[in-house]
Amino acid sequence: MKVISKPNTKPLDAAERNKRVAEPGFGKYYTDNMVIAQWSEATGWSDATLQAYGPLSLDPATMVFHYGQEIFEGMKAYTQPDGGISLFRPEANAKRFAKSAARITLPQMPVEFFVQTVEELVKQDKGWVPSKVGESLYLRPFMIATEVGLGVRPSNHATYVLIATPAAAYFNAAKAVTVWISTEYVRAALGGTGEAKCGGNYAASLLAQKQAAQEGCDQVAYIDAVERKWVEEMGGMNLYFIKGSGKAAKIMTPKLTGTLLPGITRDSILTLANDLGYKTEETMISIDDWRDGVKSGEITEIFACGTAAVVSAVGAAKSVHGTWQTGDGNPGVITNEIRAALLGIQHGSAPDKYGWNKRII
Ligand code: PLP
Ligand code: COI
Repeated sequence: MKVISKPNTKPLDAAERNKRVAEPGFGKYYTDNMVIAQWSEATGWSDATLQAYGPLSLDPATMVFHYGQEIFEGMKAYTQPDGGISLFRPEANAKRFAKSAARITLPQMPVEFFVQTVEELVKQDKGWVPSKVGESLYLRPFMIATEVGLGVRPSNHATYVLIATPAAAYFNAAKAVTVWISTEYVRAALGGTGEAKCGGNYAASLLAQKQAAQEGCDQVAYIDAVERKWVEEMGGMNLYFIKGSGKAAKIMTPKLTGTLLPGITRDSILTLANDLGYKTEETMISIDDWRDGVKSGEITEIFACGTAAVVSAVGAAKSVHGTWQTGDGNPGVITNEIRAALLGIQHGSAPDKYGWNKRII
């Protein structure tokens, strides 16, 4: 499989593009091109086509509209100090995409083919990659079930699409986010789709997110479906809890029990925090541990992490059990240190000891 290039013959003029890249927001503007590939049970994957960004035309009986067979990824391209561009651990996204596909009975896309589509789109639309630290080109690969029919069965046709949007920080990095701990709605149960990055998980999370907003909170933190006490993750980010301070601090994250999305940022931070001299632990953290820990001062900092969010401090937590505050509402010292260490590698200003960056330009 290869990517056949038929780029947009009428790209946006450079002055207007630069204006958009200078104030990117998140998901506000899309680049000039996209990549599309088709799969059918009978013939496997087609070559992919890089073509002008634009609407998809689909029969109303296309399966994805009815039974939600959809998966996606989120990854970023970063400008390097010499003006080049790197992707961060793209093979990890490709592997997770294949795992999500298996869970949702969509076809698995070969890792090299997935990465090639990303490389080709970023090379073509390189003028859309912001250059400020903390800004990037956010890539959104996704796959939908495109067999036409209403029978409930795995689709025998799938369409892969890759789009890109210049992105600033998802949250204001200078401010801690507030979270609503949902005790009413769960995100995932064992045997369900919590480990997969499928659209259905996000659809199911929106009611809790709406409730969070009504409670004056920015985000939702979910707890486990069975005992209703173990902290899992947020709607689009993993969580980290820090006990103690200075180099004696311990950095903990909820264990991957089968219901959490195994975040690539989460995984990178486990390694980075060790390198910075901290002890790390993947463990079970209950809502009581959270409340008692911040009240006693044992838990000194909490942050959320993900591709879109990077590293964002978590401040107040609110639930039906009450409200409690971590720190003073500003990001803590270790949160800032980890954020800077991660961005340093991604933007090429710190050594890339683990070969996480894939230089493409
Ligand atoms: N958890 C959920 C539910 C997510 O949607 C994301 C975002 O991708 C993450 C965690 C963080 O994963 P990653 O660090 O791979 O972006
Ligand atoms: C990401 O960080 O890539 C996500 O998918 C989170 C959210 C924007 C859905």
